[in-house]
Amino acid sequence: MKILILGINGFIGSNLSRSILESTNWKVSGLDLRQNNIKKMLSNKNLTFHLGDVNQEKEWVIHEILTSDVVIPLTAIATPMSYIKNPLSVFQSVFETNMYIIKECVRQKRRIIFPSTSEVYGMCDDLPFNEKNSQLVLGPIHKERWIYSCSKQLLDRVIWAYGKEGLPFTLFRPFNWIGHGQDSIYNPKKGGSRVIPQFLGNILRKEPLQLVDGGEQKRSFTDIKDGVNALIKIIRNDSGKANGKIFNIGNPKNNASIKEVANMLIHSLRAYPEYRDLVSNVKIETVPKEDFYGSGYQDVQQRIPDISDIQESLNWSPSIPLNKSIENITSYMIKNIDHKIFELPVTGY
Ligand code: UGA
Repeated sequence: MKILILGINGFIGSNLSRSILESTNWKVSGLDLRQNNIKKMLSNKNLTFHLGDVNQEKEWVIHEILTSDVVIPLTAIATPMSYIKNPLSVFQSVFETNMYIIKECVRQKRRIIFPSTSEVYGMCDDLPFNEKNSQLVLGPIHKERWIYSCSKQLLDRVIWAYGKEGLPFTLFRPFNWIGHGQDSIYNPKKGGSRVIPQFLGNILRKEPLQLVDGGEQKRSFTDIKDGVNALIKIIRNDSGKANGKIFNIGNPKNNASIKEVANMLIHSLRAYPEYRDLVSNVKIETVPKEDFYGSGYQDVQQRIPDISDIQESLNWSPSIPLNKSIENITSYMIKNIDHKIFELPVTGY
């Protein structure tokens, strides 16, 4: 089997391809603008990597779709701040780019595994969110936060409609996947990274952790390893059980408020003697959402996935508790940190 992963150097792409190369004999073909996260894999004989922009390398992309069994397009902008600051770039990179990939899969009759998002449920009140029954609730147009959700929702609908005409597909909805390889802790911009790398960068830069509107809003955080295991089952597609499906992929047991996550990160870093002083001085403050993100933001208060469909169809369940994921993230960070950037003492870890 040959799998084409567009955006292979990204958070999901790099973790997925590493796991595929380690645990299967599948061939992987990948494209990305960068290669820092996949450096160690580049010598693997089952990986072919092409450095470039998915919108400029159309000839290569079209040829790779033709010669692959499965196409997984993962190029995306996925930080809420960019939905508000650069809504048109989000539309172009999420909607327009994926539209051309989807049309090629239709034309070449290739199976597509497409990343939808937990964001499509928006401000739905259901607990949990169900793929078949929950309403998709977005705010008014001047709340630019929803352009990502809306773009992905329309792509979901387009793929679903092509599915009725014979396109083989699976849609998956990641619920706050976390782990190493996510956004950069070195990005000093407010909202430049999703919440965990954002808070870690704040701690290392000796900045306060800012809880938007008090941090009572909750997410069901999911370890990337659990997410990748689900994706491998979807790719494997035993007895065709992933065909024409939409699967939530998340960990309902890891439902925690942002305030709790801030405290868990501090607690986890406290285990390292060299970091004790740094974390004892961390301040946690509340900031109104308008001050943090601007007026185009609306938040999601609760986001719990119903995972019964993927549990029953593919016999997948998440197993990694949030405190373990956080321990892994901080331990990886400490081992790999660039001390000069943060002016930190070099530790023995
Ligand atoms: C994310 C992104 O839209 C996508 O990555 C993805 O599709 C989806 O959710 C997902 O991963 O399932 P969100 O969960 O809002 O959206 O992303 P974060 O930026 O990680 O924010 C989580 C929460 O932390 C939000 O309520 C935000 O307001 C809060 N936050 C963030 C803070 O309180 N302080 C900060 O410094 C940063």
